[in-house]
Amino acid sequence: MTAATVDTQPVTEASPASPHVVEVDALKKYFEIGRGLFRKSVSLKAVDLVTLAISRGETLAVVGESGSGKTTLGRTIIRLLEPTDGKLLYDGQDITHKSDKELMWLRRKAQMIPQDPYSSVNPAFPVYRILDEPLIIHKEGDRAQRQEAVMKALQSVKLNPPEFFANKYPHMLSGGQRQRVAIARALMLNPEFILADEPVSMLDASVRISILRLLRQIQLKFGIAFLYITHDLATAKHFSDRVGIMYAGRLVEEGPVRGVLGEPLHP
Ligand SMILES: Nc1ncnc2c1ncn2[C@@H]1O[C@H](COP(=O)(O)OP(=O)(O)O)[C@@H](O)[C@H]1O
Ligand SMILES: [Mg+2]
Repeated sequence: MTAATVDTQPVTEASPASPHVVEVDALKKYFEIGRGLFRKSVSLKAVDLVTLAISRGETLAVVGESGSGKTTLGRTIIRLLEPTDGKLLYDGQDITHKSDKELMWLRRKAQMIPQDPYSSVNPAFPVYRILDEPLIIHKEGDRAQRQEAVMKALQSVKLNPPEFFANKYPHMLSGGQRQRVAIARALMLNPEFILADEPVSMLDASVRISILRLLRQIQLKFGIAFLYITHDLATAKHFSDRVGIMYAGRLVEEGPVRGVLGEPLHP
């Protein structure tokens, strides 16, 4: 099934041979932060020897306090950052040190829902333009097909009626509605993997659960794998199959959500 409606599937060089969408082996991302004694370079080990795998259609939650390296891990996995060391596979393909040009296919398959709904969507564009843009960039469909895809995506994130929301500008929307637009945008290219980096932490408590439920529904409907990053262990139970705990750049504990949280996942 496709998230949006442009039904020409992207042509990619990879056939999904691997059961895992993402595989990470002894991954390191260090930032050089200056020169120390004897001008020796000093680096900050933001991500240090992390090993994990995410299966197709699965959600792995990574929970950790601020500064523990969650965002760096997520951004490295989708290759917005280049690993310092270790190995990174996507759909079984080694992408550890591939160039931006070689990663064009990944920019389609792997999407991101950022933390801040106020800065993640272009305030100058109406909603339909925000959603149309990824299709234009990746040369998907003609105008009519793209319009249909935009309407479908708005329905997928429960912004109904879609025609009403399509013409709104971001400042006319609530934080929760804006985050729904950011989610719809992530769906436009029918991704197989979404990095959701604290997608509800800036929203009112009252809308957090509804957004997490929406993400869960979208995941089940479209079979998308998620890396769900959060500092809040309680939210992981609404939206994850497995939970890993991150501490000072390391993934220190990992297991099924029932085991780590001690309670069953509500359907
Ligand atoms: N571009 C960067 N340059 C230097 N240090 C960075 C950079 N990005 C993140 N860090 C540092 O890496 C550590 C982990 O940051 P981050 O991944 O943002 O953690 P989290 O998302 O868990 O809050 C922090 O100490 C942060 O200051
Ligand atoms: Mg972060």
